[in-house]
Amino acid sequence: MKKTDRFYVLTDTHYVSKKNFTENSGFRSRERGDQIALTVGPEILRSFFDKIIADPLADAVLITGDLINNGDINSHEDFREELKVLTDAGKRVFVTTATHDYCGMGEDENFFKSIKYTENGTVPIPHIRKSELLPFYYDFGPKQSDSVHEESGSYSLKLFDGVRLIAINDNGNGRSHCGLFEDGVKWLENEIDKANLNGEKVLLAVHHPVIPPWDVYRHLVDFEMYGGYKELMRMMCDKGVKVIFTGHTHVQSIRKYTDDAGNWFYDVATTAAVSAKGKMRKVDISSDRKTCSISSVGIETIKGVDTGGKSAGEYIYGLNFIGLLDNSLPLLNKDFNAFIEGVDGLLPVDKLKAHPHLSKFALNRLQKLKLSTIAKLSKKYTGMSHKDIKNLGDKKVLPDLIEVVADVFGGNAPFTPDTPTYKVFTGFTRKIDKLNSRLHIKALNKIIPDGQTLTDVAEPMLYNNRTGDDDNLIFEL
Ligand SMILES: [Fe+2]
Ligand SMILES: [Fe+2]
Repeated sequence: MKKTDRFYVLTDTHYVSKKNFTENSGFRSRERGDQIALTVGPEILRSFFDKIIADPLADAVLITGDLINNGDINSHEDFREELKVLTDAGKRVFVTTATHDYCGMGEDENFFKSIKYTENGTVPIPHIRKSELLPFYYDFGPKQSDSVHEESGSYSLKLFDGVRLIAINDNGNGRSHCGLFEDGVKWLENEIDKANLNGEKVLLAVHHPVIPPWDVYRHLVDFEMYGGYKELMRMMCDKGVKVIFTGHTHVQSIRKYTDDAGNWFYDVATTAAVSAKGKMRKVDISSDRKTCSISSVGIETIKGVDTGGKSAGEYIYGLNFIGLLDNSLPLLNKDFNAFIEGVDGLLPVDKLKAHPHLSKFALNRLQKLKLSTIAKLSKKYTGMSHKDIKNLGDKKVLPDLIEVVADVFGGNAPFTPDTPTYKVFTGFTRKIDKLNSRLHIKALNKIIPDGQTLTDVAEPMLYNNRTGDDDNLIFEL
């Protein structure tokens, strides 16, 4: 008898059909300003799928929305073909959709435009409407389910004996509301009750976050949360649902919520499959249905792409803004034109070109800025001794700052409280917090959640102060 039943979770695949751009079109510069790979998205997806197919224990795959990038039919058709690679290999495949998966201008308005990038610009191409998504992906979830909520496209199915997957399809347009409407909430409640009565363990999935990776996320973009998240948190706690799989933030994050009565659940958010730190979740449910073990799996290579010897992560890192900046900075003094070319699409290159000396001066100053300089500036707040600061030597600020930004999406940032970088960065934010307590800086207080400080906001970006590990989790179902 099998000891475990296994499925994989992927999200935010943001697939773009190869039919939607030509090699010399503006699509590459569109990709540069992003934080996910678009041009090689299909190859990345296939590389993930190959891993799943090679795993004999993998029984099912769940993909939780933003399947494609811009609601166009070309991409949906190609993406659906890709799903058949998994089903042909004997894997069951379930998907939900989200705001990037359709184009709408009425009730479901979401501002996305289906376009093809040509040598001369962009041209509109056919798109899919929200209401067409349920029939389009019918074979990947609704068909296998015993209950479909027609209005939203949510569905409930037996994942394994004694284990039920309820996949919530976000309603609303992702601007003013993304979540279930009243009727959908009732349907969800009923499905969980039914499962509990039958003694089934319930796993939930939805695209938008229920617990955000950081509190500042909810504070700044509450509308990007799952609409009705507070109600869902209560429902999960009251009905004993222990986990929800989410996406959307593109952040690898595991957070736990515990209510006053001690009931709890986890929001397991998975980073975008097509990001530099792209991973999927491997989920094992023990055969006695008591334990759920979650780990994370990335890809080492991208099948069919010449990465010039780079790993998948290094290659994807070099496609988008932070990696481009990181890789271009060494060119600043050697070859200014090459530097400008490298940062085109992310920095205001026209301004940089208009003032080359000033630009070089400012960027050089930034590159030369030492950690010890910041440490001395905020010594009182760092908890560091003279010797600690001396030991920092010539270590620069910028590489660590770039690492913080690069790790935002991958989770498990490395600057734990025992590291010099943590001490210097939080010393600096504590100094600003002190200043702010006297000066009440309006612009700053706007971004800080009530009752918190800038240091509280910065800390989870420096290291994982959530559950301690964004990649692995074991809990009792
Ligand atoms: Fe996304
Ligand atoms: Fe999204």
